[in-house]
Amino acid sequence: MSGEESLYQALSAYSESDFYPCHMPGHKRSPLSGEMADFYRIDITEISGFDNLHQAEGVLWEAQKRANRLYGTDETFFLVNGSTCGVLAAVMAAAKPGDEILLARNCHKSVYHAAILQGLQVRYYRPEMIQAYDIFDGIRPKEIARLLDQFPCCRAVVITSPTYEGIISDVAEIAAVVHERGKILIVDEAHGAHLGICGAETEKDKGLDIESKRGADERRADLIIHSLHKTLPSMTQTALLHVNGDRVDRVKLHKYLSMFQSSSPSYVLMASMDSCVRFLEKYGRERFASMGQHYKAFCKKTENLNHIRIGKMTELSENCALADWDIGKIVISVKGTNITGKELSDILREQYHLELEMAAQTYALSMMTLMDEEKGWQRLADALVEIDGRIEKKQTQSVEKNAVFCEMKLSMSEAFHSPREEIPVKNASGRVSADFVMPYPPGIPLVVPGEQINEEAVREIENYLDTGLYVQGVSSEGRIGVVVEIP
Ligand SMILES: Cc1ncc(COP(=O)(O)O)c(C=O)c1O
Repeated sequence: MSGEESLYQALSAYSESDFYPCHMPGHKRSPLSGEMADFYRIDITEISGFDNLHQAEGVLWEAQKRANRLYGTDETFFLVNGSTCGVLAAVMAAAKPGDEILLARNCHKSVYHAAILQGLQVRYYRPEMIQAYDIFDGIRPKEIARLLDQFPCCRAVVITSPTYEGIISDVAEIAAVVHERGKILIVDEAHGAHLGICGAETEKDKGLDIESKRGADERRADLIIHSLHKTLPSMTQTALLHVNGDRVDRVKLHKYLSMFQSSSPSYVLMASMDSCVRFLEKYGRERFASMGQHYKAFCKKTENLNHIRIGKMTELSENCALADWDIGKIVISVKGTNITGKELSDILREQYHLELEMAAQTYALSMMTLMDEEKGWQRLADALVEIDGRIEKKQTQSVEKNAVFCEMKLSMSEAFHSPREEIPVKNASGRVSADFVMPYPPGIPLVVPGEQINEEAVREIENYLDTGLYVQGVSSEGRIGVVVEIP
């Protein structure tokens, strides 16, 4: 494969050659292998000339190097098991068994899973809520500094930026306070693989050359995880892990990656990552510029809505902690109206054939990327204008929503490995959870193993269920797992 030839082209050419596969996979690239045979054409294993992801030194090394150049980090790894395996490897390479670690409490479940697997002692940063939209705010660098001074044994800090709803924290400032204290910063940027490259715009930086700003932010974190599949043209499960500097033991990181990545990484997925990087090099700038234009037109069309509100920085109080907001995450708030976010999302699906990314109690989330054309943005804006004309203000006043946090009674690993019983949610107040309870998406635990479930948490879980939202960790009979109490 030459530098010019993509992995996909090399695989296609190979599939047309006269090499006969006396090896895995079992479909043998045969056109007779069922209705998905077309997909198997470029699905090979580690054969001569096609390198090995676990010890890349040929075509896969080159493809990863290409991605690395695009992001400007020190080293980049392809991930075929999603950001999930990048998060697991990053956290476990940064903290040894039994170490302390500081987590933003709104991290994705994969971060908690790493803490359980490594038996970590967890300290929390509890983000505030942006009351206007009932979503988590950004992370305050000063508060991270204060917590690290209070818990100096923490080896690493893990934050999510941007959040599922697109809230971006001041990563450069957070990196500064973390590094001043000799700690490792892991940024779960699963939702931000598009930020800081090819002139992608954010709300605050619209119209400015943001590449230098965001690039600098990113370079300062030690480990960064990107889901290519979430916001860029790449197949589901594809992701990247970036490393900077020498605070993280790279030998250990490699070892963890080889534990969490399949020993048979899919060439279809790897070709997709290579293709995504090449696409961005060629068309990224032009497409992100169009996305900025589509976003502006969308904002113009929806600026006079009476009830529905589109999440924007300009609508927020100065006291909010966020540094920026991703324009690809359209938070559609129906707070204070007579419908819920779930109902809005149902209307958009059933009446307008617009399938949203997620729905919560007071908002729904539409994800837009550089691959959305004007038509998609317009359909969404037109539907919202129509729906806005049909809904009303709620009669009763909306209550302020605060994040629900429960007190930690046992370490996560201890609770996870304790004897458990299943009890109805309504009886769970006061009991120590043996499980994660989380509305999905976004997969941020409301309760983690070891936390004592309080009344607010019970009410919140019941609210989610009543709204028709899916809550992982609650059975279809409405039961959750708690640690058996020893009399
Ligand atoms: C913030 C965050 N981190 C990590 C992940 C895991 O990503 P993946 O699905 O690529 O494994 C997700 C998935 O939704 C996420 O929202």
